[in-house]
Amino acid sequence: MAILVLGGAGYIGSHTVYELIAAGRDVVVADNLLTGFRAAVHPKARFYEADIRDRQAMDQIFEREEIEGVIHFAASSQVGESMSNPLKYYDNNLWGTTCLLQSMVAHGVDKIVFSSTAATYGEPERVPILETDPTHPTNCYGETKLAMETMMRWTQQAHGLRYVALRYFNACGAHPSGAIGEAHNPETHLIPLILQVPNGQRDHISIFGEDYPTKDGTCVRDYIHVTDLAQAHILAMDYLLQGGESNVFNLGNGVGFTVKEVIDVARKVTGHPIPAQVSPRRAGDPAQLVASSEKARTVLGWKPQYADLETIVSSAWDWHKAHPNGY
Ligand code: UFG
Repeated sequence: MAILVLGGAGYIGSHTVYELIAAGRDVVVADNLLTGFRAAVHPKARFYEADIRDRQAMDQIFEREEIEGVIHFAASSQVGESMSNPLKYYDNNLWGTTCLLQSMVAHGVDKIVFSSTAATYGEPERVPILETDPTHPTNCYGETKLAMETMMRWTQQAHGLRYVALRYFNACGAHPSGAIGEAHNPETHLIPLILQVPNGQRDHISIFGEDYPTKDGTCVRDYIHVTDLAQAHILAMDYLLQGGESNVFNLGNGVGFTVKEVIDVARKVTGHPIPAQVSPRRAGDPAQLVASSEKARTVLGWKPQYADLETIVSSAWDWHKAHPNGY
């Protein structure tokens, strides 16, 4: 039996495929390659170039392959774009997941682990955030991810689907082998943008706002290594395969770093002065997002290996130095 990874050519998906293969699992990948890269797909995974909105393509995969569970990363994930083009997010994230679930129900595949996000919480009332805290997304991306969670819940009631929603905080870093890493076009994430400065691709990093109610006025985020996220998906799939009930888990390190602290760590790792300039706030950015991941640790037995930001940024730097233009 195989695990089907949708969006397995993307950043977190490709790292999860590498970890699944290292754990000896049989893996099928489907990706429409709109934002993913064929070169990011592990050579031992069977690859289908397919879009989850294409019901026929999904049906064909479930008919050809013996799928015991689905790990679903296939979604649009840029907060800013979701505000300027919300219907793209309803189409890809919600219509795509509708087609996928219809196909899964039709083929009796009843286990799914999927990417949710800290953006489901919006501006949190307290940190660290617990899974039971209120969810009031401040952007359309977070709204569609929350609606995906709700869609799974109703599908469970009607059709017995079991799901695990993993609410990631700030994914970062690259595979320790150096084979794969983070590549987005356009890039919007803090760590890769900072590393473009020592890589000679940008002359400074912009700090989006210095007037937040945090210790140095810049936003606080919880940075979690992509390989640790990948391990959580395997644990979540095994939990479902062993009969676990549907569940929602936060995935983060439980430690917050300000934007300025992240830049300082990057200066130390790269030995480059990395000039920074303060610019206006970016719309929709909450001041602080820090996870309580106690539930994932207790229920799934998840133990992140990369608690230290310096090690995380070093792994990202190794990848970006070797692949300045991505794949
Ligand atoms: N930032 C800058 N300058 C930049 C880029 C980012 O100051 O050039 C700041 C942002 O304002 C934010 C922090 O750095 O405060 C991190 O920004 P990212 O864009 O790297 O990440 P976000 O926290 O905005 O978003 C990430 C994921 C989203 C997810 C969100 C929720 O990219 O998919 O976390 O946790 F929704």
